[in-house]
Amino acid sequence: MVPRLLTLPDPALVVLVGVVDSGKSTFARRAFASTQVLSTDVFRAMVADDGADLSASRAAFELLHRVAALRLERGRLTVVDATNTWPDARADLVDLARAHGVPPVAVVLDVPPRICAERNRSRPDRRPVPEPALRRQRDRLRRSLSTLTDEGFSAVHVLTDEEAATATVELVPPSERARWGP
Ligand code: CTP
Ligand code: MG
Repeated sequence: MVPRLLTLPDPALVVLVGVVDSGKSTFARRAFASTQVLSTDVFRAMVADDGADLSASRAAFELLHRVAALRLERGRLTVVDATNTWPDARADLVDLARAHGVPPVAVVLDVPPRICAERNRSRPDRRPVPEPALRRQRDRLRRSLSTLTDEGFSAVHVLTDEEAATATVELVPPSERARWGP
């Protein structure tokens, strides 16, 4: 199989979208520099010493948005590694990107529930997320797949599990985009 080529503008605000254990952090680690990736887990840990402490989510998002804004001001490509299954969370990120004149791009990890559930059960670094919570996330993701293109993203890329594991990411700077046209 030829690996999928994922062409992204640089700079961009890359918004990962995927349920727990769909492989967002694994994909981000493989495809981007560690300094480009802002993960809610990391920000939760920064304020609460525990990346899974959901009571720290509000503070974590506040920090994440602040850091993303400072990076976008500098024209630095930034990846938001969070589930982003709520439309409101995505709308805030689209607004943030647009406010800085940077294209928001969604990268969806559309991974079969069976695979996510299996990873959820066997994950070494965290207690399993309860099945009802996973189901609600999955339902939100399903609904999101049909609305994403109308949410103001410049592009929406949907990756399968295999594509996420193998895709080559190509970053296109503004000078080359100008040559290609809009
Ligand atoms: N994993 C895997 N094969 C992949 C992708 C992920 O075996 N192709 C494993 C990882 O090693 C990890 C688990 O699945 O143990 C979850 O992957 P992760 O990238 O951490 O998933 P996230 O979507 O980031 O999960 P979360 O929402 O909890 O951050
Ligand atoms: Mg993760």
